[in-house]
Amino acid sequence: MQYSGAGQRQPLPGGSNATTLLPRPDTTGAIIDAGGGYCGGVAVAYQLLYLVGFKPWERGGVDRDLARFLDLEEQTRTPPYGRALDLGCGTGLQTVELARRGWDAVGVDNVPRAIHQARRRSATGSVRFVLGDVTNLAGAGVGDGFDLFVDRGCFQGLDDTQRETVARAVTDVAASHAVLLMFAWGTGVPRPLPRGAEPGDVAATFDGWELTDVEELSPEGMPPQLRRRQVSGRWLRLERG
Ligand SMILES: C[S@@+](CC[C@H](N)C(=O)[O-])C[C@H]1O[C@@H](n2cnc3c(N)ncnc32)[C@H](O)[C@@H]1O
Repeated sequence: MQYSGAGQRQPLPGGSNATTLLPRPDTTGAIIDAGGGYCGGVAVAYQLLYLVGFKPWERGGVDRDLARFLDLEEQTRTPPYGRALDLGCGTGLQTVELARRGWDAVGVDNVPRAIHQARRRSATGSVRFVLGDVTNLAGAGVGDGFDLFVDRGCFQGLDDTQRETVARAVTDVAASHAVLLMFAWGTGVPRPLPRGAEPGDVAATFDGWELTDVEELSPEGMPPQLRRRQVSGRWLRLERG
């Protein structure tokens, strides 16, 4: 599958698809986050951020770039579209949108305050929020057979060991031909922002998955401090083979 949009193409590792520049800046504030270190420090940083209510990744509201990706995934399905797991769901802003669109949605996050807010947000009961770590999805009790995973800013903050563990954990609860939509900044992000992830690294980490698409944010969609350092922000699409 290939996503539309004006922009440049670049070869993908092991694939033939495109990188396109997203035309709008609506994920500008979406993935700015903090982490004192890239291991336990990330968890502490998020706890502090939720404690003080600093959630810049929610500033844009429902993510319109994600919505475009979902439009494409939904084109070939009829509602209910299937099971969707929002990895590092935060307060569930995007998870609730998944449910509204017709996905059987579950959100998982390891910050109790975020999950508490997520549960308050979802009055309908059509979405479930689980307090747990993305590296231990089975232990968290999220269920299995997921057709879709969304990772908007979680993977990029994990250390290498956590990344390998989460990739295995996702695969263990994934349906065959499941799809993962992930937003990550590229590497080179200044501290205390998350370390970022390059498409090739993500593809190499998710054994048995194919990186099918990469969409790059247009420079005007980038926060100035990242634009200055020429850091990319990208949506990735991976499909389980
Ligand atoms: C940048 S925020 C994005 C939140 C949400 N995805 C959104 O777009 O609104 C990243 C989220 O990942 C969560 N997170 C980070 N590491 C995690 C882990 N190991 N297990 C579960 N959640 C994690 C954080 O608590 C935080 O809520």
